[in-house]
Amino acid sequence: MTDFLELARDRYSCRAFTDRPVEPEKVDALLAAAVAAPTAVDRQPWRAWVVESPEAVERLSACTRFSFGARVFVVVGAVADEAWVRKYDGRNFADVDASIVATHVMLAAHDLGLGTTWVGHFDAPALAEAFPEMAGCDLVAIFPLGYPAPEGGPAPKHFERRDVGELVTRL
Ligand SMILES: Cc1cc2nc3c(=O)[nH]c(=O)nc-3n(C[C@H](O)[C@H](O)[C@H](O)COP(=O)(O)O)c2cc1C
Repeated sequence: MTDFLELARDRYSCRAFTDRPVEPEKVDALLAAAVAAPTAVDRQPWRAWVVESPEAVERLSACTRFSFGARVFVVVGAVADEAWVRKYDGRNFADVDASIVATHVMLAAHDLGLGTTWVGHFDAPALAEAFPEMAGCDLVAIFPLGYPAPEGGPAPKHFERRDVGELVTRL
């Protein structure tokens, strides 16, 4: 097992893939990591879709310019009606829960030797129209999956993290 800090630091947004297909067992492992994610009051208010048939991949790719030519995708969505709502301020935690699930998928992909990028820039209404199965969900992330190509290495932004002192206050 990889050291977690090493994994977290080593992961980067991969935006180019080789032709090597992603093994179905690796997709299954990603989904197992998703299911293991914690959610508020264990409501598990999320859904995921594996988009892998060439026809479905084409339909998805029409909804974003960030598909990077991948041949398999995982889409993660939140289900507001199933989520815990904090009574003090009415905050619904569906997007938080789905984002934790998505983070598991993203980190598990790297752990499995796959590359991916959390893609938030997509036409969500168009995606829900293209895939009626996704309608009614708040679509939070698309993960294009593949084996990293050398030209898909970390972009400059990967190395532009702010200093911890700027982000964290010790009280
Ligand atoms: C919520 C979210 C949405 C993102 N959406 C996109 C996207 O649509 N397209 C893209 O190329 N990268 C996207 N990214 C990747 C970020 O640009 C990237 O994480 C950031 O620049 C830091 O680089 P790194 O992931 O290589 O460390 C997104 C990341 C997050 C967390």
